[in-house]
Amino acid sequence: MAEELLTISDLTAGTEDKTILHDVNLTIGRGESHVLMGPNGTGKSTLGHVIMGDPVYKVASGKIVFDGEDITEKTADKRSLAGIFLSYQAPVEVPGVPLYTFLRTISQMRPELKMTPKNFRKRVSELAAQLSIDEEFLGRDLNVGFSGGEKKKIEMLQLLLLQPKLAILDETDSGLDVDALSVVSRAISSYMSDYNGSILLITHNTRILEHVDVDKTHVMTHGHIVETGDASLIATIEQQGFESYEKEAAAELADEAEGAPEGADAVAEH
Ligand SMILES: Nc1ncnc2c1ncn2[C@@H]1O[C@H](COP(=O)(O)OP(=O)(O)O)[C@@H](O)[C@H]1O
Ligand SMILES: [Mg+2]
Repeated sequence: MAEELLTISDLTAGTEDKTILHDVNLTIGRGESHVLMGPNGTGKSTLGHVIMGDPVYKVASGKIVFDGEDITEKTADKRSLAGIFLSYQAPVEVPGVPLYTFLRTISQMRPELKMTPKNFRKRVSELAAQLSIDEEFLGRDLNVGFSGGEKKKIEMLQLLLLQPKLAILDETDSGLDVDALSVVSRAISSYMSDYNGSILLITHNTRILEHVDVDKTHVMTHGHIVETGDASLIATIEQQGFESYEKEAAAELADEAEGAPEGADAVAEH
């Protein structure tokens, strides 16, 4: 395996009153691509947000180490500077902030990406062309009135501009037409090959995986990672669905609930 970039150990996390992730272990090496699959509502997006440091979620126990540093208690902006990028399942709209201004602001926060205004404009134009984004979008307010496909392409523009060490892509491919899907998957490939980027791709869509070389696949149900395999696991899941994993996880949860002391935590309430 490649040098470790992200190591999550025994992570249990959730909101104030609900445990969503249970004892999650996950290691991503530098330059590796990992796919996370699982039924709706199992905690995939939560895992992405917890890695990013979203304050909505609390870590009850366990540890997240990124690039050799324990980031479990670090704020999201520190993690972003350390090189973690999260593409949201539903990107937020920011009225009053033109896309170009937003891009310039986020890249100026990264000293290693320092560029003159002229070079920055040139770089953004190149990337916009590469991603088939009309330059007219750069003057529009961030995500306001953008279609789903346009929002995802703009996220790819941020990815290629910021060159993070780890990109967590949360259903970046959902709802995309064939052309947008091909633009997005080419952007992911180029991020990985040009910058030795690592990805954690949360997806239901196996079409995107035709364009991305997958190193590892993880299956999550009820907040547990119940199986890890190579790329061939994707085909197995496509054929068999998540049913067998669901049964296994339900049995485990029942055991946990039985063994838990009274009022232990929300796990017992499932
Ligand atoms: N901020 C939150 N507040 C309350 N419940 C949440 C919150 N975020 C996630 N959940 C719940 O946690 C579970 C996992 O959600 P999520 O991580 O979005 O699942 P997935 O991405 O696998 O579909 C769901 O039951 C969801 O309702
Ligand atoms: Mg989700």
